[in-house]
Amino acid sequence: MCGIVGVIDSKDCQKIVFEGLKKLQYRGYDSAGICLKNDKGLHTYKTKGTIDSLIKKSPEIKDAYVAIGHTRWATHGEVSEKNAHPITSLNGEWAIVHNGIIENFEELKDNLVKEGHVFKTETDSEVIASLLSLKNFKNDVENLIWATKKLKGSYAFCAMKNDKERSIFIAKNKSPLYIYCKDNTSIVASDPICFPEGEYYKMEDLEFAQVSQSEVIFYNIKGEKIIKQPITNMAVMQDVSKNGYEHFMLKEIYETPEALQNLYTNLKDYDFSKIKKWWINKVKLIGCGTAFHSCLMGARFFKKFLKIDAEAITASEFRYDYEILDSTTLCIFVSQSGETADTIAAAEKAKKFTKKIISLTNVAHSTLASISSITLPISAGPEIAVASTKAYCCQVAALYLLANAFTEKRFDKALKKIKRLSNILERFYVNLGKFAFDIAGENSIFFIGRGADYVTALEGALKLKEISYINCNAFAAGELKHGVLTLIEKETPVIVIATDKKIIEKTMNSAFEAKARGAKLYLITALPPHLVNIEKFEMCLSLPNVDKDLICVLTTIPLQLLAYNVAVMKGNNPDMPRNLAKAVTVE
Ligand code: M6R
Repeated sequence: MCGIVGVIDSKDCQKIVFEGLKKLQYRGYDSAGICLKNDKGLHTYKTKGTIDSLIKKSPEIKDAYVAIGHTRWATHGEVSEKNAHPITSLNGEWAIVHNGIIENFEELKDNLVKEGHVFKTETDSEVIASLLSLKNFKNDVENLIWATKKLKGSYAFCAMKNDKERSIFIAKNKSPLYIYCKDNTSIVASDPICFPEGEYYKMEDLEFAQVSQSEVIFYNIKGEKIIKQPITNMAVMQDVSKNGYEHFMLKEIYETPEALQNLYTNLKDYDFSKIKKWWINKVKLIGCGTAFHSCLMGARFFKKFLKIDAEAITASEFRYDYEILDSTTLCIFVSQSGETADTIAAAEKAKKFTKKIISLTNVAHSTLASISSITLPISAGPEIAVASTKAYCCQVAALYLLANAFTEKRFDKALKKIKRLSNILERFYVNLGKFAFDIAGENSIFFIGRGADYVTALEGALKLKEISYINCNAFAAGELKHGVLTLIEKETPVIVIATDKKIIEKTMNSAFEAKARGAKLYLITALPPHLVNIEKFEMCLSLPNVDKDLICVLTTIPLQLLAYNVAVMKGNNPDMPRNLAKAVTVE
């Protein structure tokens, strides 16, 4: 994973690297580092933690003209200053920053050790610096290509040499890399959000470049120069502030009504004619984490409204499992970032069988969007907190609209319902302080529900475990008696989601079976008190009664708020939970 930035600029390269790295922290924030070049040589500063800690630690080097920087999400080697990038070769000749995983690094490392190399870090990335320092080709690009040819796996890396040249050498395979070069400033980065407005280049797999202050020379793997066309930068990141909220997560939960309103506006005139012409036999919905949960909800919509075989699969399973796909299969990939490695790889696999690929993403210029036949914007607006909140609600709403898009009448009705939902949500934000206080000290919490409520339970449990670090698990209510009841002890909290009148008695039976074994029950419902035996619960949160297919969006919000409150009570930073990253760009 990780984010990389390289800059060639005579005045501001340190500042530009720091600004870029801050924008790339969604790719990981375990550690950070920068290496700057001036006439005296290379100067490297590294730290555990975020870019702010790095900025505090790095002296200003005003005369630096080349710099590379890195924000890390650890894959190989513990989170430590030693394993932070940039990594320099043993002879101090090369410094590199790398994003990706070198799959054959152990074999390469063994061979290099035999040749006398000593490794200073536990990272896979160090082999890149070592390989670069191994040969003495006349031309550094030859060196770059020679070293890169030895690598297997995914990589985007920037390398700079300990000389006085104003150049950076870059290579890419499977991990993203972009270049901006204008007005005597060149920037290389994992995401074009690091660039000012204007044109930029997108590197393709197995392409190489030597980037100088006012020129970029591209090469193919044979070392031949190639010409690439620039693309226009649509990805300039708006400066997103917390707008008075203490954390981005809270702000984003409160932005859900506006996000749904935007979804409504963006999809109301969307041209679905191409999709409507497709002959579809079955639907597969693929995503990871929270996006997978929206796929589970989406599969229910497709089954209900189109009476079609629909199934949700996690992308990491889809990649390697026995999936039966053909040209009549519609594959829908859901990803907030559009950069999740598993989801992208799953889409690449699906493309071999079917052209009917739709992606739902929040980032129009994302890799997933670029490989899909059709991209629907989920329109959530920038989501900074690692825990996905408003994006989930928009994904569910967008899948609801998509499943209804095959007939005009249905679609119009569905649109109206989304608009109504957004209006109701504006007036619905509850204080969950007491509820959060009650469960914040627990070690283990269960969530149960049936049907759509089960999916909401899964999402609620993921949100809470992600930022509170409490062991939370969700189960289909009817499954408790098939094993999970053994884990229920005196006072074990069980959060029951029950919004479906048709099966309320069944859900209540499961809840009371847990209560009979000592569980403390909490209820989230939209049903009247006499249907839910309210007195048996420690606490009951009553929701307004909205459309039965969309109530799942409403039910999710108190669970997000609950997770937020618990995290804050425990002193955790809900925006940057430990060990996670916003976009998981490695397998
Ligand atoms: O960017 P994506 O939607 O593809 O991300 C997928 C998951 O990594 C993501 O939803 C993750 O589960 C969130 N941190 C959950 O809040």
